[in-house]
Amino acid sequence: MQTTLKNYEELHEGDIAFGRYRVRGRLGHGSTSVVYEAESLEDENRVIALKVLNQKSAANQKLVELFRSEVKLAKQLDHPNLVRGYEYVKNGVWEAYAMELLNGGNLHDLIYHNGTLSTEESFHMLEQICCGIEALHSHGIVHRDLKPKNILVSSTWQVKITDFSTALIEGNRPLPYDLGQVGTPEFMSPEVISKGVADERSDIYALGAIAYQMMTGQLPFPQTRFSDQVDSLKRGKILPPHKKNIDCPKRLSKLILKSLREKPARRVQTAAKFLDELRTICANT
Ligand SMILES: Nc1ncnc2c1ncn2[C@@H]1O[C@H](COP(=O)(O)OP(=O)(O)O)[C@@H](O)[C@H]1O
Ligand SMILES: [Mg+2]
Repeated sequence: MQTTLKNYEELHEGDIAFGRYRVRGRLGHGSTSVVYEAESLEDENRVIALKVLNQKSAANQKLVELFRSEVKLAKQLDHPNLVRGYEYVKNGVWEAYAMELLNGGNLHDLIYHNGTLSTEESFHMLEQICCGIEALHSHGIVHRDLKPKNILVSSTWQVKITDFSTALIEGNRPLPYDLGQVGTPEFMSPEVISKGVADERSDIYALGAIAYQMMTGQLPFPQTRFSDQVDSLKRGKILPPHKKNIDCPKRLSKLILKSLREKPARRVQTAAKFLDELRTICANT
């Protein structure tokens, strides 16, 4: 049954989208999109994730441009720890892109369901996240919105970074909105929240916050008020992860805290350095 221009934000199993995919179900959504699992009508063995830009975002030309540049970027990036984009499709007011499907859910849901991850699981995931970040940075790309919801897991526990809608590519591409106001402030560095400026070390901060949540099941700064996230006095001191979880190696706790420092210059400076230290800790644990 061919569905003609129905509401692509509310597709159901069996619906045909863009004249080329049969929807199998809904995978999730973010602030700008709805993501479905779908199979190609030409080859039902080709199963993909279809990210549809929602109508609120489609009405904002700047967000449409960001979405299209996200597609372009995802198609170019070829790395085992970055989600690979396939084709862009459009039908009237609706636009979307197909990408590789990861059917193990996102890291946010995984942590939420399990409380924390074991040290071994955390090492495994962090190593892959670091490799993904390192690959982005080596191409001059800063992700700017790394958080557990943007980290996907395959059924074989391969970990991949997704959602390049806020990625900053070589130089300063201003966003049509204040990043700190739309994202999840808990994973954003103080400089991103307060000034909207980001470099590689802003991604390192997010990496530290992700690692903190993996090891403790909690956020380093649980407040959600933007002003409190910026104001270090109001944010208070971070309790070291090993004090919340006795299984967390002290050296890993130290690495995480060093990634979460307020001043970028005082943080772990690169994903490669984080990875080196992580591997040393892992080998000695
Ligand atoms: N390739 C994919 N495979 C499986 N699930 C996905 C995929 N891409 C996105 N999702 C799910 O959809 C959610 C939203 O996707 P995301 O790209 O982050 O959208 P937004 O840009 O709107 O934030 C993710 O958190 C994840 O749960
Ligand atoms: Mg997202």
